[in-house]
Amino acid sequence: MLAIVLLFLSALGPVTTIRLDGNGYTDILLVISPTVPENEDIINQIKEMIVNGSDYLFEALDHKVFFKEVKILVPPNWTTGKYDRATTETFDKGRIRIDDPHPAFGDDPYTHQTQGCGIEAEYIHFTPNFLLNNDLIKVYGPRGRVFVHEWAHLRWGVFDEYNKKEPFYLSAGQIQPTRCTEEISGQWYEIINQSLRPCQTDEAGKPKSSCEFLPDAVQNTNASIMYMQSLDSVRAFCQEEEHNTEAPNEQNEKCSRKATRTVIFQDSVDKDSLRSLKPLTSTPPAPTFKLIQRGRRVVCLVLDVSGSMHGSRIKLQKQAATIFLNQIINEQEFVALVTFSTEAQILNRLTLIDKQASRDNLISKLPTVANGYTYICKGLRKGLEVLRTDDSKTIGDEIIFLTDGEATDKVQDCFQEAVQSGAIIHTISFGPNADNVLKTMADETDGRFVRADETILSNQLVDAFSSMTISDGNSITQPIQLESTGKSVTDWFNGTVSVDRTVGNRTTFTLIYERRAPTVYIKSPSGLVYDQRNTTDIANTITFTVPGTAEPGDWQYSFLNSDTSAQQMALTVMSRAAHEDVHPVTVTATMNQQTSDGTKPMLVLAEVRQKYNPVLEVSVWAYLESDTGISVELQLLDNGAGADAFKDDGIYSRYFTKLIRGKYSLKVRVKNQHGGILSSPLRHSGALYVPGYIVDGKVELNPPKPPVNVEPVDVGSFTRTVTGESFVVERDSTLNFPPNKITDLTAEIQEDTVLLNWTAPGEDYDQGTAQSYEIRWGEDLQTLQNNFSS
Ligand SMILES: *[C@@H]1O[C@H](CO)[C@@H](O)[C@H](O)[C@H]1NC(C)=O
Ligand SMILES: *[C@@H]1O[C@H](CO)[C@@H](O)[C@H](O)[C@H]1NC(C)=O
Ligand SMILES: *[C@@H]1O[C@H](CO)[C@@H](O)[C@H](O)[C@H]1NC(C)=O
Ligand SMILES: *[C@@H]1O[C@H](CO)[C@@H](O)[C@H](O)[C@H]1NC(C)=O
Ligand SMILES: *[C@@H]1O[C@H](CO)[C@@H](O)[C@H](O)[C@H]1NC(C)=O
Ligand SMILES: *[C@@H]1O[C@H](CO)[C@@H](O)[C@H](O)[C@H]1NC(C)=O
Ligand SMILES: *[C@@H]1O[C@H](CO)[C@@H](O)[C@H](O)[C@H]1NC(C)=O
Ligand SMILES: *[C@@H]1O[C@H](CO)[C@@H](O)[C@H](O)[C@H]1NC(C)=O
Repeated sequence: MLAIVLLFLSALGPVTTIRLDGNGYTDILLVISPTVPENEDIINQIKEMIVNGSDYLFEALDHKVFFKEVKILVPPNWTTGKYDRATTETFDKGRIRIDDPHPAFGDDPYTHQTQGCGIEAEYIHFTPNFLLNNDLIKVYGPRGRVFVHEWAHLRWGVFDEYNKKEPFYLSAGQIQPTRCTEEISGQWYEIINQSLRPCQTDEAGKPKSSCEFLPDAVQNTNASIMYMQSLDSVRAFCQEEEHNTEAPNEQNEKCSRKATRTVIFQDSVDKDSLRSLKPLTSTPPAPTFKLIQRGRRVVCLVLDVSGSMHGSRIKLQKQAATIFLNQIINEQEFVALVTFSTEAQILNRLTLIDKQASRDNLISKLPTVANGYTYICKGLRKGLEVLRTDDSKTIGDEIIFLTDGEATDKVQDCFQEAVQSGAIIHTISFGPNADNVLKTMADETDGRFVRADETILSNQLVDAFSSMTISDGNSITQPIQLESTGKSVTDWFNGTVSVDRTVGNRTTFTLIYERRAPTVYIKSPSGLVYDQRNTTDIANTITFTVPGTAEPGDWQYSFLNSDTSAQQMALTVMSRAAHEDVHPVTVTATMNQQTSDGTKPMLVLAEVRQKYNPVLEVSVWAYLESDTGISVELQLLDNGAGADAFKDDGIYSRYFTKLIRGKYSLKVRVKNQHGGILSSPLRHSGALYVPGYIVDGKVELNPPKPPVNVEPVDVGSFTRTVTGESFVVERDSTLNFPPNKITDLTAEIQEDTVLLNWTAPGEDYDQGTAQSYEIRWGEDLQTLQNNFSS
C-alpha cells in the first residue's frame, strides 16, 4: 500500500522542476529579482519572448517540443498586477532570472552553466534592459531566438560554437573563423573607433586581435543556433554531417566534438522523450503564463518530544532551535511552535517577530520534557492547522519538521494531505533512527532535507537549523554563517574568525556546551576584550552579540573549561551584510544529485561568489558524514580539470567516489587568509554580441559593446561555513571507477619539442593517482578520436 501511494505521489513531484508534459515544457519558473522596480512592460516582454521562442523551438526541433506553461514569480513589493500566491516557488529555484546586469557581462544574456556536456545548467540570466531596449535586438537577434539559444544551454547542456578568446583557427593552412557551420560566410575587418579598416595579419598570417569576423546578413545555411541565432536564415541546431569538428569552441571541447543536435538527442535529459515523441501535425498552443508572488515568511517549527528525545537530545534540540529563532528568522516574519509525541500540542501560535522580546518569548517556550510515541501525522496535521490560523491557507507557508524516530502511526494517512497543502516542508532527520519518509516528504514539497547526528561536537543540528533560510534573491537580508566548529574541551577552546568588510551587522557568537559554562574571552581586531558580562546564557547556550557593526579583521575567541572533566562545546558565528549596497560573499553547497544508486560517482559543488562575481583562489573543503559512520574530507578545486567544468568560475568541485550506503550530511568550509581576489572572467555560455553584418556588400556596424568593469577587487580575509542539503546513497558501490577524462590538455611547440601539459587525473576519477598514461599521435583528428587503439 505504501509503495503504491508513494509511487502515485512522486508522479506529482516537486513543482519547481521543468518537465515535458506530452510535447510541451511545463513548470518553467521565471523569477524577477526584488531589486527590479515594478514595470508591467517587463512582464509583457517576457511573455512575447517566450511565445516567439516557442515557435522557433518548435521549428528547430522537428515540431516535437514547445513551451507550454511558465510561472513568473514577481518581487514581493510589486503591487499593480493581480498575482496568485506562490506555493513552493522561491527565487533560488528559478531557472530563468531577470536581475541587475552581471558586473562583467553587462546586458549579455547568458546561462550559468556549471557542469559538463549534456547536463542541465543552473539558470538563465536576462537583464531588464535586454528585455526593454529594442536596440539590443540588432546585436543579439530577436529575443525569442536568444531565449532558445539560452534554453539549449540550460536544458540540454550544449555549449557555444563561437569563441571570443579564439575567434579563428588554422585549417589546412587557411585562417577560419571559429563557427558552425563552416558555410557561414563573411569578412574580416579591423574595427577602430567604429571605423573600418582591412584586417591586417601578422607574419604567421593570423588576423590581429582587433579584427572581427562580420557575417553576411543573408546566408545559405540554417545552422546554427548555438553560433549566431541572430542571422535570419539560422533556424536549426548544427547536425553531425555539417558540424565543424575542428573549431576551437566550447561545444567541441566539452562534448567530444559532437554536434549540438547530437548532444540534444543522445545525451540530454530529454534524449528519450525527443526520440520517442511524434511530431505534432498542427501548430502548438501558445504558452500560458501564471503570475505569482511570495508572501511574508510564515514558519511552524514542529518538534519531536517523544520518549527517545529524552535527555541530551531534547536539550540539543532546544539549543539549535534557539539559534534559528535568534539569528535565522528575519524581522516581520511569523513563527509558531508545535510539539508532538503521542499527542500534538501547540506551544505558541503564529507570532510576528518584531523585536528581541518576541524571539526571547518563543525561545522560553521551547520544549524540555520528552516522553511517549512518535505520531508523525499528528505533528504534521497540527503544524498545518496552526499555519491556517492567519488566512485559513497553508499555501507558501513552511514547516520545519524534526524527528529522531520512526513513525508509530501510518504516515501514508497524512502524506498526501501534507504534499497537497502547498506548504514547503523542510525535514531534519536527527540521529541514526529517524524515519526515511522525511527525505521523501522534503523532496515532494520542495523543502530541504538535512540529517544531523546527536553530538554537540559536530554542531550538525545547529547547522541544520541555520540552513533553514529562504532566499528572495537579495543576499543583503540573509543571515551568513562565518564559523561552525566543535571541540571536546579539557582546558582551552581557542580560535580565530575573520570578519570581512562585506559583513558585520548582527554578528553573534553562540556557544553551546554540555554541562558547565566555560569562561569566555572574545577579542576584537582592535583589542577590545569581551567576557562573561557581555553575554547571555540560557539553556547551556552562551550568546554574545557584537554591538553595532563588527570591526573587520580577525576576532579571537577563547573559552576555558571550568568543569573537572572534558566537555563538548560548539561555536557558531553568524553575521549579516554591513552595507545596503555591498553584497556579502556567500557560499552555496550542493551535490549533483540528491540520491545515488552507487553506479556513478557523485559531484560535490560549492559556489563562492559576491552576488554574480566569482571569488577565486580560496581554500574550500567539503565534509561528508553519514549515519553509517563514513566520514570524508575533500578539497574542492576551481581548476577546470576532473570534476570541475570551468576554471575560475567560482565553482569549486570534486568527485565523491567512496559510495557506501547511508544518509550523508554535507558541510563546506571556505577560508581565505591571503586577501581574496574577486575577479570577473570571460563569459561562457551566452548569446554573442555581433559587432555588425554585411548587408548587400556593405558593412552595417552595430553600436560598440558598452565597456564593463573587470577590475579584480580585494575583499580581504574571510571565513564561511555552509550546510548543504543531505543526500542518500542507496547501495554500496561495487564498481571500480576509471580515471576521469583529461579535459585541459594543451600542446605547445618549442623548437623541436612538443610540450604537453594537463592536470593529472586520479586512479578513481580524481581521487588518488593514475597508474600510467598512454599517448598516441596521428595526423588526422577523426582517426585519433574514432580509432585510438590502432
Ligand atoms: C521595490 O523594491 C525595489 C528595490 O528595493 C525598489 O527599487 C522599488 O522602487 C520598490 N517598489 C516598487 C513598487 O517597485
Ligand atoms: C536545415 O537544413 C537541413 C538541410 O540543409 C534540413 O535537413 C533541415 O530540416 C533544416 N532544418 C530546419 C529547422 O529548417
Ligand atoms: C515576436 O515575433 C513578432 C512577429 O514575428 C515580432 O514582430 C516581434 O518583434 C517578436 N518579438 C520578440 C520579443 O522577439
Ligand atoms: C579612438 O578615439 C579616442 C577618442 O575619441 C582617441 O583618444 C583614440 O586615440 C582613438 N583610437 C584610435 C586607435 O584611433
Ligand atoms: C562588557 O560589559 C561590561 C559590564 O556591562 C562593560 O563594563 C564592558 O565595557 C563591556 N565590554 C566591552 C568591550 O564593551
Ligand atoms: C587560549 O587563549 C588564552 C588567552 O585568550 C591563552 O591564555 C591560552 O594559552 C590559549 N590556549 C591555547 C591552548 O592556545
Ligand atoms: C548595518 O548597521 C549599520 C549601523 O551599525 C547601519 O547603518 C546599516 O544600514 C546596516 N546595514 C544593513 C545592510 O542593514
Ligand atoms: C601547465 O599548465 C598549468 C595550468 O595552466 C600552468 O600553471 C603550468 O605553468 C603549465 N606548465 C608548463 C610547464 O607550462
